[in-house]
Amino acid sequence: MAENSYTYSNQDVGQGRGVYISTYGCQMNVNDSDRMYALLEMQNFTPVQTPEEASLILVNSCSIREKAVHKVYSEVGTFRKLKEKNPDLKIGVGGCVGQQEKDNLIKNQPMIDFVFGTDQIDNLPNLVAEAYTQKGKIVSAKFEHRAPYHVETLVKNPGVATFVNIAKGCDNFCTFCVVPYTRGREKSRPHQHILTDIRHLIKRGVKEVTLLGQNVNSYNDEHGTDFADLMAKVALETDIERIRFTTSHPKDFNQKLADTMARHNDKIMEYVHLPFQSGSTRILERMNRNYTREQYLEKIEMLKRSIPNLVLSTDIIVGFPGETEEDFMDTVNLVKEARFETIFAFKYSPRPFTKAAKFEDQVDEDVKTERLNRLFDEHDKMAFELVKAYEGQVMKILVEKTDREFGKVQGRSTSNKLVHFMGSPDLIGKTVDVKITKAFPAVFRGELVQ
Ligand code: SAH
Ligand code: SF4
Ligand code: F3S
Repeated sequence: MAENSYTYSNQDVGQGRGVYISTYGCQMNVNDSDRMYALLEMQNFTPVQTPEEASLILVNSCSIREKAVHKVYSEVGTFRKLKEKNPDLKIGVGGCVGQQEKDNLIKNQPMIDFVFGTDQIDNLPNLVAEAYTQKGKIVSAKFEHRAPYHVETLVKNPGVATFVNIAKGCDNFCTFCVVPYTRGREKSRPHQHILTDIRHLIKRGVKEVTLLGQNVNSYNDEHGTDFADLMAKVALETDIERIRFTTSHPKDFNQKLADTMARHNDKIMEYVHLPFQSGSTRILERMNRNYTREQYLEKIEMLKRSIPNLVLSTDIIVGFPGETEEDFMDTVNLVKEARFETIFAFKYSPRPFTKAAKFEDQVDEDVKTERLNRLFDEHDKMAFELVKAYEGQVMKILVEKTDREFGKVQGRSTSNKLVHFMGSPDLIGKTVDVKITKAFPAVFRGELVQ
């Protein structure tokens, strides 16, 4: 099924060497690191738990917010001693900072042996082979603009719940965001490939998949299958128990998608992460988000009408250039109005290549910090109260793994709440009824209903 454009010349590049990957950023990077491990294991590398055991260290970097490049340099700096001790050790930097900085990384940090871009993951076995046989440094950061996005999911230990990439890249060009530059143009995988992947994963014990993309609801494959069609197919044509997706963009969340979620609510989970970024229409326009405050509120009303138990979470940026106190209060009020139980909020950080980085009315760092704290305070006041309503309720929990606390397991509710409770490891992979005894905004405690 996979049409991999790379052929790997040497099947034993690794010779049993240890490989360690340090992963930053979003689920996309987590998923990519799984892929790197799987590809490298096929070349006889052995995944190890610490950099000390490794002869190949990869940093899978993220560039979404401040000090991204600095973080790469400082982490690579900590490997200096290891490199002195082990001349065989190779260090590679991939991910969004690799894509963004290319050869600059090697110029500024000579300990780095090779840099690879976000479209070069499947080429990694070849790059690593070169790194071990050649003297010079290697930089491979080309986007595969013309190649179709035909890859199969590669993950060694998928567990109970895993990610499946359905699209890559982003064409939205929100003015604050580096992703369109670090991940390239948007491309969707053919839906048949996704269905085949999911069927394989089910055979390996997977019960839940999260369909992954920067902007999943603009998914559109070469057969004209849109995201709603894809979800319906996954629900109807595979035996997967639970379907989730992330991230969706408000401008592309339409009634058809909400109806599809409602129709397949036995499988498609009642949870949506729908970033609004700012509650001020003026700022949304400067962010190039393509919706107004009112349109966002209408979207979530529409969603709640279609899916009555829907739980929403969101992303927010404070201190975007030109944001006044009044704009900021529009954001605070939207959080209250929409009654989000979970928010992910960040201070605006100017990113390379982006339009907003060049806007002249940047907000002072102190003001951003103060606003972020105020937003969290306001949200906390509300969130503790909101989640209290769950105490006493019985929820359907898919058990994912044992807990760090002895005798406990953890899993997620249909609405994506993380729940810890006393239970045997035999429950892993099963869906059980759990009564919530204590609810905090980020985590619930409960007890198994026998
Ligand atoms: N594709 C997703 C977002 C991916 S980035 C979407 O459109 O919703 C994840 C989050 O990081 C964004 O939602 C945004 O809130 C935040 N973010 C992105 N760029 C940022 C920047 N320059 N400064 C601060 N936060 C940023
Ligand atoms: Fe970035 Fe906007 Fe694309 Fe999300 S939709 S990845 S915020 S450009
Ligand atoms: Fe970071 Fe790249 Fe993801 S910038 S958030 S790793 S797409």
